Amino acid sequence: MRVLLTGHQGYLGTVMAPVLTAAGHEVVGLDAGLFADCVLGPVPDDPPGRRVDLRDITAEHVAGVDAVIHLAALSNDPLGSLAPELTYDINHHASVRLARLARDAGVQRFLYASTCSVYGAAGGGDLVTEEAPLRPVTPYAESKVRVEDDLHALSDGDFSPVYMRNATAFGYSPRLRADIVLNNLVGHALLSGEVLVLSDGTPWRPLVHAADIARAFTAALEAPREAVHDRAFNIGSEVNNVTVAEIAEEVAAAVSGSKVVITGETGADPRSYRVDFSRFRAAVPGFDCEWTVKQGALELADAYRGHGLTREDFERRFTRLAVLRGAAETGAVDDTLRWRR
Ligand SMILES: NC(=O)c1ccc[n+]([C@@H]2O[C@H](COP(=O)([O-])OP(=O)(O)OC[C@H]3O[C@@H](n4cnc5c(N)ncnc54)[C@H](O)[C@@H]3O)[C@@H](O)[C@H]2O)c1
Repeated sequence: MRVLLTGHQGYLGTVMAPVLTAAGHEVVGLDAGLFADCVLGPVPDDPPGRRVDLRDITAEHVAGVDAVIHLAALSNDPLGSLAPELTYDINHHASVRLARLARDAGVQRFLYASTCSVYGAAGGGDLVTEEAPLRPVTPYAESKVRVEDDLHALSDGDFSPVYMRNATAFGYSPRLRADIVLNNLVGHALLSGEVLVLSDGTPWRPLVHAADIARAFTAALEAPREAVHDRAFNIGSEVNNVTVAEIAEEVAAAVSGSKVVITGETGADPRSYRVDFSRFRAAVPGFDCEWTVKQGALELADAYRGHGLTREDFERRFTRLAVLRGAAETGAVDDTLRWRR
């Protein structure tokens, strides 16, 4: 298939593009390139792509495309809170516009990168399925819910949106993000000797490796229409339904000499959910996640050591919020996060 991959120069897109290409698909990228230079190790060649802001997409960008994988977004809760109105402009309105243009151009499948953050403060008890009430607690998560709703309204006999509700990602990508929990804690452990948990460690935070997300999207792209049409799927694995304290213990085991410090304060982030991932396995027989949290912690520690991660880069270059704040302060982007050049 000819696949338009938005966000191909982000953390997940950089891992996903080669997986799609290896599966025989022709990938065309589209990204504003906000983090294209936030690189830790060698980047595989990007697929042919365009530097375009999602808000400026036209019919030309979706012409001749069989499927869209839509990753581009302000990609986490703190970013969304930086400027909620921009989050709705980019993550919600521009995404729905892209989907409309795609549908009008005859694109048949639209895989949308949603998130388990839509479950919000679901509590620690039962596993949440895709039928659980959605309780987004941030503009970021709310924007994802609104897109799912609007895509559902666009679905028809020819156009199949699929809502991929990813758990929190982890693992090495050359375009690293250090602002997601496992990637962050491994960096702290290596740079300071402490696995610093700024809460009591009890929230549940299901995790999934970036490479498993890439495989899941590829599987959803190739699945029969009736298996995925207009359906939401939690993407991850029950083995990686872990609390923040458990994540910290895995990190301390992977980084010798480091120790867990749990501050016990009331965390700023009220999210807590344990997730049931069985629907996707049933829809796409043969699919399962391959990576555990333990393997991911070891992989990250090796990659950080091997590529010489510095504290400066850890805190600024690989933290999405810090990069955008820096770009706004230097005037590289305007107050709507568009490049000035
Ligand atoms: N990483 C996770 O833990 C996780 C979990 C669940 C869902 N997701 C979703 O997956 C997607 C990809 O996440 P990621 O971790 O790769 O994030 P990322 O920040 O690394 O990548 C997002 C990409 O979108 C691009 N982008 C942002 N605004 C844009 C705009 N206005 N126009 C064009 N491009 C723009 C950025 O340049 C970047 O390359 C996002 O939609 C995110 O919400 C991520």
